[in-house]
Amino acid sequence: MNISTEMLHIRVDDREAHPSVTPIYQCSAFSADSAFFYSRKSNPNVTELEQVVAALENSEYALAYATGMSAIYMVLELLKPGGSLVINKYIYGCSYKLFQRYAKRIGAQLTILDLTTEDGLNKLPPEVDMVIFETPTNPFLKDIDIHDVSEAVKKINPQALVVVDNTWATPLFQKPLMFGADISLYSATKYFSGHSDVMGGLVLVNDHELYNRLLEGRFYSGSILTPHSAWLLRRSMQTFSLRMEKHSSTTAVMLSYLQSLPFIEHVYFPNIDGKQLVGYGGIVFVDIRSDLVDHYKVFTSALKWFGTGTGMACVTSMVAQPFSGSHASMSDQEKAEMGIGKGLVRLCFGLEDLEDLKEDLLQAFQTMESRVGIESVLDPA
Ligand SMILES: Cc1ncc(COP(=O)(O)O)c(C=O)c1O
Repeated sequence: MNISTEMLHIRVDDREAHPSVTPIYQCSAFSADSAFFYSRKSNPNVTELEQVVAALENSEYALAYATGMSAIYMVLELLKPGGSLVINKYIYGCSYKLFQRYAKRIGAQLTILDLTTEDGLNKLPPEVDMVIFETPTNPFLKDIDIHDVSEAVKKINPQALVVVDNTWATPLFQKPLMFGADISLYSATKYFSGHSDVMGGLVLVNDHELYNRLLEGRFYSGSILTPHSAWLLRRSMQTFSLRMEKHSSTTAVMLSYLQSLPFIEHVYFPNIDGKQLVGYGGIVFVDIRSDLVDHYKVFTSALKWFGTGTGMACVTSMVAQPFSGSHASMSDQEKAEMGIGKGLVRLCFGLEDLEDLKEDLLQAFQTMESRVGIESVLDPA
């Protein structure tokens, strides 16, 4: 026997190890007598994460994907060529672009409706196959009644799929499947991760056949989450409700604080009706005063505790301009149709001390205002 052969077969026998947390199963394949098969199909770390999220949402099944976008993509694969896809008018910029590209490629009819209004709901096409929307929406945090949409869609076509991107509400505060949606999906990169260090997507369903179709699609596309990312996400989920509590309580105070600031024209906050949406996390939008818009960069540079960039829903606070960030892939005309101008700012409150965040926002707004030569009307104390 050559040592180079033996070296390849050395394994620690971990059957008696009983680790206090599940180790990372960083393996592509499992032996023939294992309950698992190949990590492109499933993996213990992925399965554990799926079980955690399914329990949170109270769903029968969960599937984890490499990113939120890959989760959405794999759901789109359920649409038949030449089918009819309806999306809500207010939606994440990359999702919007994906729907446009995908529909064009498979010859599907793409209909963009404002499902936040009764008028929009009345315009559902008679051949509808799939309806996708976020609630609260990105941007503007408008709410859509999941039950009303599901009822209207199923009346037209009982086989049509209602898909809710529940990323911003989270399963703690909204459970779309309970209100008639067929699919609830997430960018796990946001609140599930919460630490800006891992990407992922989750799709939740109750229907067994739908689950099997998605499972098959994931297996053949190779879009499953990696074991390491699943492990990181599973670890993050242990502090998920605690983090959400803190995001929520900070946002609740910030809402009236922001409304009191003279630099802000409007604060967007979702409708927590206590029925469909029973709470909310840490992301709001504001319209800054029109004379301040050109000085947005002064504001972000002056902020001490708010990071810039596309990250959000994490432990640290973030500021972003949808026009140049989350919706940058859309044309200026498409952005204008959605109502996105340069004065729209997204604020994500992290887990920092509330007073520190208030103070930071105030001084940054004042710095920005000083650039337009207007005296600040507030006492920094
Ligand atoms: C509502 C929503 N859905 C989906 C995505 C895409 O998720 P990911 O970035 O994990 O691919 C995002 C990303 O910002 C989002 O905000």
